[in-house]
Amino acid sequence: MQNQIRCWLLAIILLCVSGAPVFAENELPIPTDDLAYCSTCHGVQLMGNPILKAPRLSGMESWYIENQLQSFKKGWRGTHEGDVVGMEMRPMAAALSDEQINQAAEYVSATRSALPASSVVGDIDKGKVLFTTCGACHGQSAEGDPAFGSPMLTTVDDWYLVTQLKNFKSGIRGSHPGDIYGMQMRASTQLLTDEQAIMDVVSYISTLRK
Ligand code: HEC
Ligand code: HEC
Repeated sequence: MQNQIRCWLLAIILLCVSGAPVFAENELPIPTDDLAYCSTCHGVQLMGNPILKAPRLSGMESWYIENQLQSFKKGWRGTHEGDVVGMEMRPMAAALSDEQINQAAEYVSATRSALPASSVVGDIDKGKVLFTTCGACHGQSAEGDPAFGSPMLTTVDDWYLVTQLKNFKSGIRGSHPGDIYGMQMRASTQLLTDEQAIMDVVSYISTLRK
């Protein structure tokens, strides 16, 4: 009994010393064999890996993950000649059956990791003004709205938001005729007239993280 108490005390002390956010081990999902390789690029608990340009996926909504995996699989994403990074993801989604895509979406949305640190610097006040329009679809707290197919924007890395906004603007993403949601988003990037506007709006979105 005494040993057991000692063990618990040690475990608590170690958790406090490590200073890392604590996620109860038994609540973290374990991927099935066919999904274990997602973490080779997206990191442990899909926390993201900027070196591989693979975004944080932890906690993303399952309906949006499913949409994106289907989008890659159908070739709406990851086929444009300028989309070198998307081309790395495409074969991963193409290898999944529709049922596996469902399972992947459930697994990804159940993963947990600390929110990523902000890396983008822009004018937050100008970004806030720009975001009023974005909020019509993404919600004023960037919480996302499935009715519009618009994802939550606060769980993903800020550098990834910048890349995707540039991709939409240049037509690397959202120009395939089948990609209705992508095209709607693409039209919205007209508002972002230059790179500075992209940095401004993304730095405002970072302030909405909880
Ligand atoms: C070879 C590396 C690699 C592997 C393995 C990989 N991914 Fe990716 N994934 C990427 C990259 C890189 C991107 C970013 C693509 C872009 O910039 O458009 C991405 C993007 C995504 C996105 C889009 C996120 C968004 O916000 O739009 C989803 C969802 C995703 N991956 C899920 C998965 C799942 C599920 C698996 C396992 C079945 C997986 N990935 C395996 C590299 C990988
Ligand atoms: C008309 C509705 C609409 C408006 C307005 C809108 N978006 Fe979107 N946005 C979407 C949809 C739909 C998607 C998902 C596209 C897809 O399925 O590929 C999206 C996707 C995104 C993504 C990609 C996220 C990811 O994880 O890959 C970013 C970043 C984004 N929007 C930012 C913005 C910003 C910033 C604005 C304002 C300048 C904005 N959106 C305005 C509908 C909209």
